[in-house]
Amino acid sequence: MPCTVVICGFFGDTGKGKVNSYLSLKDRTAVSVRAGVGPNAGHTVIYESKKYKMRMLPSAFVYDKCRLLIGPGVVINPEVLLQEIQLTESEDRVGVDPQCAIIESKHIEADKAGHLAEKIKTTGTGTGPCNAERALRMVKVARDIPELQKFLTDVPLEVNLAINEGKNVLIEETQGTYLSLYHGTYPYCTSKDVTASAACSDVGIGPTKVSDVIIVFKSYITRVGAGPLPNELPWEEAEKRGWSEIATVTGRRRRAAPFNYELARRSTMLNAATQAAVTKIDVLFPECKGVKSYEGLSQRAKGFIEKVEKEIKLPVTLIGTGPDAREIVDRREKLRKV
Ligand code: IMP
Ligand code: MG
Repeated sequence: MPCTVVICGFFGDTGKGKVNSYLSLKDRTAVSVRAGVGPNAGHTVIYESKKYKMRMLPSAFVYDKCRLLIGPGVVINPEVLLQEIQLTESEDRVGVDPQCAIIESKHIEADKAGHLAEKIKTTGTGTGPCNAERALRMVKVARDIPELQKFLTDVPLEVNLAINEGKNVLIEETQGTYLSLYHGTYPYCTSKDVTASAACSDVGIGPTKVSDVIIVFKSYITRVGAGPLPNELPWEEAEKRGWSEIATVTGRRRRAAPFNYELARRSTMLNAATQAAVTKIDVLFPECKGVKSYEGLSQRAKGFIEKVEKEIKLPVTLIGTGPDAREIVDRREKLRKV
């Protein structure tokens, strides 16, 4: 499958980091490109007993032969990016598009005050004010920053060449469909569209280049920040169920609710997903922890997966059974032949 886009069907934090890191190892991804907003994202990757909280580089860094690119649609915090490059020792395989917009301290300050902090409850990472300044055509871009010069590359050209040569390309979107500026719960949303179409635009490929769109759902829903969350549970109930999560970037409590089929159907439509991933099934059904074959899942877990498939009319090809990149049931080959 030459070009796969991975997006989230809920409000973010569904496990895209885990899914992307697994796919890169399994498929020996040649090129992975970060799409999406910017360092407001926190993608958790656990690999070889190490935990990484990725905010700028693609989660595919775990596959050490994968080229790691950041598309022009993404806004960059150079400090965060350079730290991640150092942490992952990936300097020789990172490429940044010259037109990525640059977050400055004034954007972070603006994001931590007034309307954005108090009403929207943003992550405070400066992505919204940076995108606003970009729309005014006043923002600095990566080619203006001396520290980024050695990483600059024509990302759309690299990605299109890789796809045309039949290489495996993985595009990593951030946030979630219902945080999209266009399709989300406006005004409680992020500063741009974050559906699969936006991911293509962010990295400079047309929609006909995409072979698969994998929509990622968690077995329950979480949401951080303000805005509606249908059937939200009190924190104490979330704790009881093991759904009490703390946000990767902001350290805030994540609000929690049960899996929502209506939201799942709509996000499947908005992203024209071709297959689905369901993560953290071991949180709903602890007996599934670490299981790697569909047959190994419990009857009640299989029942849940079958219900999801029936509701969204898509095969669930990937099922997360634990936090490690390799704790996953992968049914892609089996279901493709059906
Ligand atoms: P912003 O993207 O920082 O402007 O925040 C806008 C809204 O999106 C807030 O409700 C944030 O909590 C939420 N948000 C942004 N990025 C993420 C993410 O990666 N995971 C979950 N929520 C996010
Ligand atoms: Mg996250």
